Amino acid sequence: MDASTGRSLLLTGIAELTTNDPSRDGLLGVVRDAALVVEGGTVAWTGPQREAPPTDVAYDVGGRAVVPGFVDSHAHLMFAGDRAEEFAARMTGTPYSAGGIRTTVAATRAATDEQLAANLARLVDEMRRQGTTTVEVKSGYGLTVHDEARSLAIARQLTQETTFLGAHVVPPELADDPGAYVDLVTGPMLEACAPYARWVDVFCERGAFDADQARAILQAGKAKGLRGRMHANQLGPGPGVQLACALGLTAVDHCTYLADEDVDALASSGTTATLLPGVEFSTRSPYPDGRRLLDAGVHVALASDCNPGSCYTSSMPLCVALAVREMGMSPAEAVFAATMGGARALGRDDVGHLADGAAADLAVLDAPSYLHLAYRPGVPLVRETFLRGRPGTG
Ligand code: NIG
Ligand code: FE
Repeated sequence: MDASTGRSLLLTGIAELTTNDPSRDGLLGVVRDAALVVEGGTVAWTGPQREAPPTDVAYDVGGRAVVPGFVDSHAHLMFAGDRAEEFAARMTGTPYSAGGIRTTVAATRAATDEQLAANLARLVDEMRRQGTTTVEVKSGYGLTVHDEARSLAIARQLTQETTFLGAHVVPPELADDPGAYVDLVTGPMLEACAPYARWVDVFCERGAFDADQARAILQAGKAKGLRGRMHANQLGPGPGVQLACALGLTAVDHCTYLADEDVDALASSGTTATLLPGVEFSTRSPYPDGRRLLDAGVHVALASDCNPGSCYTSSMPLCVALAVREMGMSPAEAVFAATMGGARALGRDDVGHLADGAAADLAVLDAPSYLHLAYRPGVPLVRETFLRGRPGTG
């Protein structure tokens, strides 16, 4: 069962295998009474169990469903402290605003590297236990050269999908001079962070950064070899989504308040719209219209946005359930968006599916079908998570 030993592994007893393999039937490429072979950490074969080839070892999952591991393409896990009191106040009427980010900035700056690393490891482990096998991690709660760079250096130890989000908000010490902060982000901060980051992100929203600032930051990141992604149209309508599409970004995230022109731009650009329904749940806001985007032919991803402010859940199964219950998506569309959609939002073709050659990253559900992810909200359905063919926490 250990990929590093070179032994091939047969997973048997899979009542329902979601492959997301386009060469198979339906959106999810489901195979019933299935088996899956892992060799060297990748999927070597899938199909009906009765046709399975011989392997060195076998592991029976006991008549359960198997889905690709979730690809959580949007998470803010580099922080210290929490904002439970802010959440409680919100539930009794105080609206969410971007300014709350500064509370976490103060706590993060005061934390040691060891504390930040421990909190990150705790959250990644929490995600694994809920079936997430790929996670993107953003900086954005340091907002100094030193604190952004150390956030990304620590994150890099746990994931290759690291994102420089120095442009989260303007920090309090430069509140009177946002231009100087943009100069810092596009200059010394980018210089210090680029070695540890794959992506550059901007919060393009009233109260954070405007379109001109966002464009300047994304272009500076691109010149340093970072690919672009953006937070946009979360708290109200704005220019972010169309800017993201015009710049050809891989993904634009939130997409809660969209005009028809925004939807058209998404459909024609190929930029993935990442929807983050845990935010709307936790801020008691209107949900993004997943149905409208899918009907327009937009590529949709679901992600957690796990962060201590707008959404402190790490649960992709919760996001799937909310997308189905509140956003007009079918269970199959939601599971696809949480796996293949997330992979597309990260420009990855090796994860989010279980076709031959893919990473053997998967979740065994304590359920006979992926449908139960939406049908049984709040239930810990992930029995076991496999990462590169090896059982992890579960
Ligand atoms: O994605 N929108 C910006 N950033 C986070 C919220 C961060 C916070 O409130 O601490 C988000 O929702
Ligand atoms: Fe976010």
